[in-house]
Amino acid sequence: VSELHRFDDRESMAQAAAGRIAGIMRQGGEGHELNVALAGGSSPARTYEILSGMPDLPWDHIHFFFSDERLVPLDDSASNYHMAEKALFERTRVPRGNLYPVAVETSDARKAASAYERSIREHLGAPVPQVPRFNLILLGMGADGHTASLFPGSKDLDEAKRLVIPVDGKAGSPPVDRVSFTLPLINAAGAVLFLVAGRDKLPVVDAIIKGQGKGYPASRVRPDAGPVWFTAP
Ligand code: 6PG
Repeated sequence: VSELHRFDDRESMAQAAAGRIAGIMRQGGEGHELNVALAGGSSPARTYEILSGMPDLPWDHIHFFFSDERLVPLDDSASNYHMAEKALFERTRVPRGNLYPVAVETSDARKAASAYERSIREHLGAPVPQVPRFNLILLGMGADGHTASLFPGSKDLDEAKRLVIPVDGKAGSPPVDRVSFTLPLINAAGAVLFLVAGRDKLPVVDAIIKGQGKGYPASRVRPDAGPVWFTAP
């Protein structure tokens, strides 16, 4: 069972999504740490800005990861970290030690992916073969149905063991190598929210919700709580 929230404009979508995210974040506090994975792309930026201005968020107790990342420097305009830095981190009191960027210094996506998987396992306290459970994973979606850096037709969609994988970036935009969370990691999360802005993406969301979108990677995101969709043209 998924939940769909459609909006006619992006600002309303961002306000509603930020409210929902803040509700989850407020569950963090003394002795209770929250682990959140942020989405990249352009759709979530406004949501992050709104969140940064919300009162009473327990920033000290929230730890931030990335559901996918491009192997570019952290201050590159194509970096998902960079987008989150500008829209969220630098506007809040979140301690720097709570930020977990992908080690993009290596140009070897395999190394970056396995190092990220290790750091997630360590931080969330889930040794192999347990699958760590993020409190919240945010995702975007492309008009081809890709989510995180899981592209249609890729064998990455069948990954059963690894939590984070290297992705050959040729198919992506921009065409750089990436690392991405896999479906087992995404589907173990307590909550998964899609932030989807773009008229061309709406028919894809409809198909997925109707169960007719089997070829779309995003249709395979099925956490126990069901994904929550926020959409706008
Ligand atoms: C990435 C993403 C990717 C993104 C979609 C939608 O880093 O490329 O995480 O999955 O969310 O491509 O991107 P837009 O919101 O920019 O359309």
